[in-house]
Amino acid sequence: MPFDAAAQVQARLPLVSRFRADPAAKSFDLLRTRLLHTLKARGWKRVAVTAPVAGCGTTFTAVNLALSLARVPDSRTVLMDMNFRRPGAAQALGMTAPGELAGFLSGQVQMEDQLLRPLPSLAVGLNSAADQDAAEILHGRSCAGVLEDMMLRLGADTALFDLPPVLEHDDTAALLPQVDGVLLIADGTRTTAAQLAACEKMLVGHTQMLGVVLNRARKTDSPLN
Ligand SMILES: Nc1ncnc2c1ncn2[C@@H]1O[C@H](COP(=O)(O)OP(=O)(O)OP(=O)(O)O)[C@@H](O)[C@H]1O
Ligand SMILES: [Mg+2]
Repeated sequence: MPFDAAAQVQARLPLVSRFRADPAAKSFDLLRTRLLHTLKARGWKRVAVTAPVAGCGTTFTAVNLALSLARVPDSRTVLMDMNFRRPGAAQALGMTAPGELAGFLSGQVQMEDQLLRPLPSLAVGLNSAADQDAAEILHGRSCAGVLEDMMLRLGADTALFDLPPVLEHDDTAALLPQVDGVLLIADGTRTTAAQLAACEKMLVGHTQMLGVVLNRARKTDSPLN
């Protein structure tokens, strides 16, 4: 399925892959390269992307990072919108979700009927409707098996999971057994040290922290300026 250029213009989310010369695009490529180094060194593939609270830029980061990963030659990336509270990846990509992701994770819907392939190297699992029973879906018996099967059948090198905020829901905790590490998104304009510490406390011992991404950084925070 090709990207819908018209829909993308209307989408709220800026897709930096359309503006390759932008410093933000360079930042995502740098993040991609550093992430791939870590994943390869440790033999990891599955990364949860989350934030302390809503609106920090989790979807913005997950989508743009997935697009950056998808540009690596001979690689395969899958992006899953696991934020059942506020699904956002479909709108960010200007695409329409074929149905509810819960059906796929519970084993009722086939992978071919749920996942879309906007680029040859990128598969996306979008969600058409919010679902408040998210933690139950993620804890569900079939979820782990469905994700394992998906990774194998796609031959995926990297999987990104867009998740709800750590401090607001326990969905991220429910998915932790299925991921290798967590990328935490901090909003440079409002995330506090106390929030980051609270997230670390919640995650430590359950997963590996891959790093903290500073989103909405001020210009003076960037070494490129
Ligand atoms: N660095 C950025 N530059 C410009 N716009 C941004 C940036 N980061 C986020 N945004 C915009 O801010 C809004 C919120 O971002 P996003 O949807 O990624 O948040 P979120 O953390 O996924 O929120 P939620 O927890 O509700 O899912 C979006 O409209 C997005 O386009
Ligand atoms: Mg989001």
